Amino acid sequence: MNKFFVSLLLTMGVSGIAQATGTTVVGDAAAGQAKTAVCGACHGPDGNSMAPNFPKLAGQGDRYLLKQLHEIKDGKRQVLEMTGQLANLNDQDLADIAAYYASQKSSVGAADPALVARGEELFRGGDLQKGLPACTGCHAPDGQGNAPAGFPHVGGQHASYIEKQLTAFREGDRTNDGDTLVMRAIAAKLSNKDIKALASYIQGLH
Ligand code: HEC
Ligand code: HEC
Repeated sequence: MNKFFVSLLLTMGVSGIAQATGTTVVGDAAAGQAKTAVCGACHGPDGNSMAPNFPKLAGQGDRYLLKQLHEIKDGKRQVLEMTGQLANLNDQDLADIAAYYASQKSSVGAADPALVARGEELFRGGDLQKGLPACTGCHAPDGQGNAPAGFPHVGGQHASYIEKQLTAFREGDRTNDGDTLVMRAIAAKLSNKDIKALASYIQGLH
């Protein structure tokens, strides 16, 4: 990892603490389950969605989930399919839902054997020449992420969802990585081919 990313990590850690102490809502997983009936149609009853364009939420980190829920609700991250879905949910509801999905076990898919070598190379080693850091620095070697830091769990996620997100970060269509621009700066260094290879590798990662 280069110096830029180390200092970025430190900055993110500091703002993360401020964010965490700013909220006092504690999620209740059992209460959350009862609030996810409507979500199951797309995301699967336990958060393991079957359709490749609907992300798996099972086993995702609590903090990352809660951040996305607030930002989707506020329109800071646009998800057309979810229009109105969160409108009637308050902060406690969102925290309960995040706690529920975080407590579920995520399923794993399979990687395309033709793409796995390039995907693994980039995920684990980055690309020194392009200044691309290894994904493992934040998302961990097994793709678990870092739940307390808010770095999402990506291992086992549907490849087409991952591909769409990396492209959206690169094109500036997803901007809720915030002021650090962390994922936009990384995705800017990825070609379509690299994105496909990473997405396939990640789908089989566990
Ligand atoms: C009609 C289908 C649909 C329904 C119903 C739906 N979602 Fe989603 N959700 C999506 C899609 C599609 C995305 C990803 C959009 C994208 O590609 O950026 C998403 C993204 C998310 C994400 C972000 C995941 C990530 O990894 O960043 C969360 C969290 C989420 N949904 C929670 C919920 C919850 C909670 C409910 C119920 C209150 C719900 N969704 C209902 C389709 C749906
Ligand atoms: C310095 C830390 C860092 C590094 C390195 C990093 N990421 Fe991320 N990544 C993040 C953070 C933080 C987010 C969440 C942004 C947000 O809150 O919306 C994220 C989000 C993502 C998402 C969206 C997940 C979802 O469920 O929607 C994908 C996909 C992703 N990263 C893939 C990668 C890949 C592939 C690499 C390596 C090429 C990489 N990341 C390197 C920090 C990092």
